[in-house]
Amino acid sequence: MTDSRDPLLDAAAASVAAYSDYADDYAVTHAPKMADQVERFADSLPTPSLILDAGCGPGRDLARFAAHGHNARGVDLNPVFVAMANAYAPTSRCDLRDIGSRFPAGAVDGVWACASLVHLGESDTVDVLGQFARLLRPGGKLYACVRSVGRTGWLDEPDGRRWYTVWNAEAFACAVADAGFEVDHIDQGVFVEVWATRNHIGNP
Ligand SMILES: C[S@@+](CC[C@H](N)C(=O)[O-])C[C@H]1O[C@@H](n2cnc3c(N)ncnc32)[C@H](O)[C@@H]1O
Repeated sequence: MTDSRDPLLDAAAASVAAYSDYADDYAVTHAPKMADQVERFADSLPTPSLILDAGCGPGRDLARFAAHGHNARGVDLNPVFVAMANAYAPTSRCDLRDIGSRFPAGAVDGVWACASLVHLGESDTVDVLGQFARLLRPGGKLYACVRSVGRTGWLDEPDGRRWYTVWNAEAFACAVADAGFEVDHIDQGVFVEVWATRNHIGNP
């Protein structure tokens, strides 16, 4: 399943592949980011908790969660990032669109999806949010952020061409809620950041 989506035909797979050539540069450029959010998420869970970094990139946040005393696991579709992230925590190659079949239902305490849904279309994102809900135990925590400024479509960036889906903040928060979460908090900037708790009731 993981390799069945052809980068020539699949916008998300093509966008993910575009990270490979400048993976080291990406790691350096993004190293200082998101420290406050990681700390807030880490502190929202008892120690140690199992945190799945879904779309972990080179592994910056895996290292931080481990430093907070958590058990971190990474998944990413880009094989260069998977190799880099394995230096910090066990990480496997997986398309987020298949994540629900990779871990037992209810086995995870936290799902951290930091800018990793940005290359998926809306319907795939909604489906993946539902898969996150199934992986999380009741009361488990989700952090997910997506772009909320700009326009949906292909973007030519200095290090590659990628597809971005831009969300209305309220629509993204509703999608999280509909997937089976209580939305605890929304932070709105260039990205909309949603902090949520897995409902104690079953999947809708
Ligand atoms: C903008 S980067 C963010 C990386 C990291 N979370 C961070 O905050 O620096 C997006 C990441 O999500 C991964 N990604 C995007 N779509 C994916 C998918 N469908 N399945 C798995 N990983 C995906 C990319 O390979 C990349 O590592």
